[in-house]
Amino acid sequence: MKTAFIFDLDGVIVDTAKYHYLAWQRLAAEMGFSFDETDNERLKGVGRMQALDILLEIGGLSFTENHRIQLAQQKNTWYVEYLETLNQDAVLPGAVDFLKKSRQLGLKTALGSASQNASLILKKLDLLPYFDAIVDGNITTRAKPDPEVFVLGAKALSEPPSNCVVFEDAQAGIDAALNAGMTAVGVGFPDHLKGAALVVPSLQVLTPQSLILQLL
Ligand code: G6P
Ligand code: MG
Repeated sequence: MKTAFIFDLDGVIVDTAKYHYLAWQRLAAEMGFSFDETDNERLKGVGRMQALDILLEIGGLSFTENHRIQLAQQKNTWYVEYLETLNQDAVLPGAVDFLKKSRQLGLKTALGSASQNASLILKKLDLLPYFDAIVDGNITTRAKPDPEVFVLGAKALSEPPSNCVVFEDAQAGIDAALNAGMTAVGVGFPDHLKGAALVVPSLQVLTPQSLILQLL
């Protein structure tokens, strides 16, 4: 029986994945190479420094540790600037309703995100009350597809992994959920979400009750 839901943030609850993309694209442009949406799929779900390393690999560049830290900080400064305009329109279709209904059903809910900006975003959008636990990039040390973020989420909810369902928009996140021994639900396009028990275009087309029954 599934008793707990663990949600990724960017691209599942809020439409911030596009701001990450814009900030990485701007950084790539400054360094003199282009970076498209296909390249961007590789950056989704992974931590900031690892995402930078993938970007540099795409651009065929390599820099010292200090320079890489500066580049990651620059990207984050732009990203946080984009977040200043964030409002309720950024909450993805069906996300709040799904969270509300999950809690009404008595399910436990956690956030499992690689982002160090997760709490900032949830606070700004008044979404903090919908989560029993928050596990984010300030707590984790290993990037998805490592299962750490979801293992810590399950622990925070005092649930065994087999009771947990993870909602993810990135392949690295689906892989992390499977590596944690959990069931994964993909939010997005099936091509980018291999291994998910099911893939939906958004949480709007799903109810927690029908999902639980489907996963029995
Ligand atoms: C999420 C996003 C990634 C992002 C990572 C770190 O997992 O999907 O694209 O790189 O968080 O986010 P941060 O806000 O800490 O740079
Ligand atoms: Mg995501």
